[in-house]
Amino acid sequence: MAETFRILTLNNISARGLERLPRERYEVASGIERPDAVLVRSADMHKLDIPGTVLAVARAGAGTNNIPVAALSARGVPVFNAPGANANAVKELVVASLFLAARNIGPAWLFARAQTGDDATIDAAVEKGKKNFVGFELPGRTLGVVGLGAIGVSVANAALGLGMKVLGHDPQITVRRAWELSSSVEQAVSLDDLFARSDVVTVHVPMNDATRGLVNAARIALMRPGGVVLNFARGGIVDTPAVIAALDSGHLHAYVCDFPSNALKDHPRVITLPHLGASTGEAEENCAVMAAEQLRDFLENGNLRNSVNYPEAVMPRAAGTTRLVIANSNVPNMVGQISTTLAAAQANIADLLNKSRGEYAYTLIDVDGDIDAPTFEALRSIEGVLSARLIAS
Ligand SMILES: NC(=O)c1ccc[n+]([C@@H]2O[C@H](COP(=O)([O-])OP(=O)(O)OC[C@H]3O[C@@H](n4cnc5c(N)ncnc54)[C@H](O)[C@@H]3O)[C@@H](O)[C@H]2O)c1
Repeated sequence: MAETFRILTLNNISARGLERLPRERYEVASGIERPDAVLVRSADMHKLDIPGTVLAVARAGAGTNNIPVAALSARGVPVFNAPGANANAVKELVVASLFLAARNIGPAWLFARAQTGDDATIDAAVEKGKKNFVGFELPGRTLGVVGLGAIGVSVANAALGLGMKVLGHDPQITVRRAWELSSSVEQAVSLDDLFARSDVVTVHVPMNDATRGLVNAARIALMRPGGVVLNFARGGIVDTPAVIAALDSGHLHAYVCDFPSNALKDHPRVITLPHLGASTGEAEENCAVMAAEQLRDFLENGNLRNSVNYPEAVMPRAAGTTRLVIANSNVPNMVGQISTTLAAAQANIADLLNKSRGEYAYTLIDVDGDIDAPTFEALRSIEGVLSARLIAS
């Protein structure tokens, strides 16, 4: 009979995600004891006593700050997230923001709402006032996309569809994203090059020491007059006083972002939204589906996709083999010791995958037939093996 698994949920996980864990093999509940895995959204796991039975933690979302990743890594427990599951949601808000900025929709709407009197009076005021909100169209304008990850690529491709010229800059673009990116997107050789040639700059990079204040006074000064900055990444990536100064001087036309603050929220050339980028029902569902599918593939096959602490490791299953799944320290001779132990038990290796990431490594070995209990214990006790399990064929 196929192995069954117990999944502890620490938050409400969308039903569409949970459907990916079939009832015949998965018991999923919020109060489960001795769980094999944990599914979590934003619950803080740092103060939680995570049972030793836990083989993996999957986060139905992007960030993993609420999970004690380092401690779990040392226990040989992979942590998964759902990168890119909310990319479409963010892209749609960025596209909306292009129009908000280009057509002055925020101030124009406020103007219309402020009108009083009868309809004839409003008509007259509208005809007189509309000249203050003359906008521009997008075809032929240049969008500079900083960061070509899940969201940046999606935004870049969508902007081409709107007739914009698109420049991109990402020195660490992955092969996967490079494949997804339209060949019509032009590479900017540097950030300064991108700013100098863009009418609109949008940032889609993580917040870290290298990206804090990336949109600063010097780079804004490089932009064409009347430029627009969009920030749906993190507030600190844009130097707020620099943007406000450029808006006040008229060099920048508008700033649209997802991060309201006292300095920004009432500025006439700024539109701030209340961190709405990923706030769609679909994004939440996508995250849950992705997390559940990754967890299932790990529990049933030992495969690792989108683990934040262990390498990507996917190996097809072969009939008639037992799969040995080992998380180990990334030190020399681990595979040597494991294969020697298997050879001593006359176990024949049918397939093997060993990947490393930083101080950790991950090994999948398919062995013809079974692995007996003493051999498994011998494998488990090799110094450097952090976790080990067997998956029957
Ligand atoms: N507004 C929201 O609600 C919301 C929702 C989701 C994500 N986000 C933010 O958007 C960011 C991007 O998300 P994603 O899913 O596209 O992430 P991602 O990891 O897929 O892509 C980030 C990209 O930025 C690139 N990068 C990193 N540093 C760079 C630099 N200095 N210059 C140029 N490129 C650089 C990386 O190489 C990577 O390709 C996230 O880090 C997050 O902060 C915001």
